[in-house]
Amino acid sequence: MVSAKIHCAVAVVAVLFLGALLPASHASTARYIAPAPSPASYVAPAPSPAHTTPAAPRPSRIQPVFVVQGVIYCKSCKLSGYNPYMDASPLPNATAQLVCYGDKVMNMTSTPSDKNGYFMVMVYKLDAFRRSKCRVYLGSSPTPLCSAPSIPSNRWLGLTLEKERVAASSLPKGVRGVYRPKSGALMFGPGSSGKCPSA
Ligand SMILES: *[C@@H]1O[C@H](CO)[C@@H](O)[C@H](O)[C@H]1NC(C)=O
Ligand SMILES: *[C@@H]1O[C@H](CO)[C@@H](O)[C@H](O)[C@H]1NC(C)=O
Repeated sequence: MVSAKIHCAVAVVAVLFLGALLPASHASTARYIAPAPSPASYVAPAPSPAHTTPAAPRPSRIQPVFVVQGVIYCKSCKLSGYNPYMDASPLPNATAQLVCYGDKVMNMTSTPSDKNGYFMVMVYKLDAFRRSKCRVYLGSSPTPLCSAPSIPSNRWLGLTLEKERVAASSLPKGVRGVYRPKSGALMFGPGSSGKCPSA
């Protein structure tokens, strides 16, 4: 639990960086990955030279990570960024859960979605991540007016992942792979009242 929180905190920091790099276009399923990473953001500060303890192995400066990313929409509601082809709008401040099954279950909360609905999860426990054993679930919605599960159709149904085709050379340093839900977007919808949040 604690480590999940740490990861989440790291992810929040990282999203400030990656979020700028990987804007979800409002056409949603388009590429989330932009080239030209700035590797500097991943580099830890130089170790203090004053330290005299002998030769501990240098910690690796760049932590390897898998990135799972996607977008969360509010279906049938005309909010900022409304996409008429999808009949849905990006939903900011929503979350998704990434759950990977194995000997232990790893359950991580994504970053809150940004104004484009974009969220991400950074998985540093590389051995807990197996694409075929991981699922993305709807997490929290910022508003009860758009919190009814739509894609997937209930909270206990997880979406399978696919690997994004991104040239390794265009990934930020340390990123071992980028994955997204096969269905593209996740969606909440207004409940039975049909009432949308105000735009
Ligand atoms: C997200 O929620 C926080 C606090 O709940 C709020 O301050 C912030 O404005 C919200 N952001 C967006 C993009 O809705
Ligand atoms: C994952 O964690 C979330 C938030 O704590 C919880 O709602 C959800 O039921 C958990 N999912 C699984 C499969 O454990």
